[in-house]
Amino acid sequence: MLASIAIALAGESGAFATPLPSYDAEPHVLTVAASGISGNNSAPVAKKSPASRLWFPDNSVADSKLKVTCSSDLPAARIAAEEIKAGWKGDDVTLRINASAAPSPEGFTISRSKKGIDISSPSATGLLYGAYHLLRLQATGEDLSKSGLKISESPKFPIRILNHWDNPDGTIERGYAGHSLWDWDALPDSISPRYEEYARANASVGINATVLNNVNASPKVLESESLRKVKALADVFRPYGIKVWLSVNFASPMAIGSLSTADPLSPEVRKWWKEKADEIYSLIPDFGGFLVKANSEGQPGPCDFGRTHAEGANMLAEALKPHGGTVCWRAFVYSPSDADRAKQAYLEFDPLDGQFADNVIVQIKNGPIDFQPREPYSPLFTSLEHTQMLAELQVTQEYLGHANHLAFLAPMWTEFFSYVSPESLKGVAGVANVGDDENWCGNPLAQANWYAFGRLAWNPDLKPHDIAEEWAAQTFSLPEQQLGILTDMMTESRETVVDYMMPLGLHHIFAFGHHYGPEPWCEVDGARADWLPKYYHRADSKGLGFNRSPSGSNATAQYPDSLAAKFGSIDSCPEEFLLWFHHVPWNHRMKDGKTLWENLCRHYDEGCRKAAEYPEIWKKLKPYIDPAVYADVEKRLKTQAKDAKWWKDACLLYFAQFSGMPWPEGITPPAADIDSLKQIKLPISNYESPSPELLDSVR
Ligand code: GCU
Repeated sequence: MLASIAIALAGESGAFATPLPSYDAEPHVLTVAASGISGNNSAPVAKKSPASRLWFPDNSVADSKLKVTCSSDLPAARIAAEEIKAGWKGDDVTLRINASAAPSPEGFTISRSKKGIDISSPSATGLLYGAYHLLRLQATGEDLSKSGLKISESPKFPIRILNHWDNPDGTIERGYAGHSLWDWDALPDSISPRYEEYARANASVGINATVLNNVNASPKVLESESLRKVKALADVFRPYGIKVWLSVNFASPMAIGSLSTADPLSPEVRKWWKEKADEIYSLIPDFGGFLVKANSEGQPGPCDFGRTHAEGANMLAEALKPHGGTVCWRAFVYSPSDADRAKQAYLEFDPLDGQFADNVIVQIKNGPIDFQPREPYSPLFTSLEHTQMLAELQVTQEYLGHANHLAFLAPMWTEFFSYVSPESLKGVAGVANVGDDENWCGNPLAQANWYAFGRLAWNPDLKPHDIAEEWAAQTFSLPEQQLGILTDMMTESRETVVDYMMPLGLHHIFAFGHHYGPEPWCEVDGARADWLPKYYHRADSKGLGFNRSPSGSNATAQYPDSLAAKFGSIDSCPEEFLLWFHHVPWNHRMKDGKTLWENLCRHYDEGCRKAAEYPEIWKKLKPYIDPAVYADVEKRLKTQAKDAKWWKDACLLYFAQFSGMPWPEGITPPAADIDSLKQIKLPISNYESPSPELLDSVR
């Protein structure tokens, strides 16, 4: 309980102390309850279901003899002390603000002194990160008893931000875990306890910012009534070191103001945004800034007024600048005109290099198309030299089987960092997979992707297998052998998905709209060519794949010379990107001496085989997993196995029509018939994952 925490009221919080506006009006006192941490509401907290607890241990028995001393009473420091008090089983702990404890304001050190464990940081938020790190080490069985213990951690990026694609009506674009967590109707008067749990989860993995609403932004989010709701959330998140941002609609001055233009060079437009920024900061002094999707997929933007992306971004940046705010301007653009969609962001943004204001960051998706199961990195990352950049990763599984498939994404993200130096980035943004489902992420195993995003945003050098192990060790109580089994399955799962969906560099051959299931044949009257699978796979009697080499669209030229040469030649192109960069003859000999067709069949087959194993592997963990979580995951893994077969059958039957080659030895030819597979249509929106029952009734 709070009383047992000795808080030395040192007053001064250190050089980098988190600025906490008007905090003392009503201190957000946290109490340590039997089941963990809770907010102002001192009613006993009901024991949480295992699925809702995320990766936090069930702290039912705090060590009553433990002494926790803290040199600061800033909210984040107090929470740090309370977390330690509730969860730490070991020597006494001292938390201290010390300006020289770490090179970064959010960094920390953990060391051992005669009195016990010391956690030091230049800021209260850093102490909180240190506390969570200590608890993580304890949960993962690290030996912390050594006298020379000295751990120093600092985040690699200053911006570690979630992007929610949540709409004001509660739907979530590409959301597979229920509705939005934010109850806009009830806010600001009613504050769900989940807001604080969400903040706690983020802080525990180092996430320090969140964009609350969809990039396809409703202008209404900037109305005064809505801003008061945003303020209420910012107040809950602040003690956890989390800044709130908003996605804004570029035409807001016309939509909710009374202006006849949103031209960024118009003085009245500039004034409108300046006044709006002043209003926001009067409510939320530490507001992070604006995220903008402009002139993309129908959204308004500066190009509508004959201005560039830089002119648009700089105008917003000017409004935020006096308050210390930032603009994240997305580079996800593709006009209907150019031949190769993969080239477009580069074509629009490379010429603008050096033209963005110093508080503008260009936010670029990891790959040049759109969060496919595997893409090469976007060449903008290596071409922009005078522009601040943020990498956008997708945590929600829009293209990886929604909430039904196990696809642990850390391997995908570390693959990205193997090409793009973290040093070149200001931060990483993750399109969130969180909703109001009791288990937060739809699939209990998808919680690991939220966790992994945070851990890699803190330290992109972490190994995927280690992150999976950390997450699994904290989430479940598994003996070592079973922990290993689960961790191995998680770590290979993304490659399995690539194998049964889109191996060897294939991409975007999903069903139209909702992106669940295979439709390599898809045709939609009136649809843009680059929204359709045939545009991407280009299957014909000669071969398969999109020729982006110098003899094709020459997208390879957008990469640095050495990579351009490597990707541009069919002989040196890494096989995992082969069909991304080349139109490859069906009988082309691959590295293993077998043809493209044989390799393609083997990848689909292997993906299917692996996916079929997952329910069996999961069975081995049954005695150790909460029954409800076990059953939920089992059902999803079985769906995944059936979906994998659906993918294999559909893609191989379809491509076989072009290859005209026999089924390779050892590959069971699909028993399905392509005409009936073509009839499968899922009646789902872009806001949901299909249920196993629905899938079973149609495929
Ligand atoms: C994809 C996705 C959209 C989203 C868009 C974006 O196209 O399907 O739902 O709005 O990316 O990132 O802006």
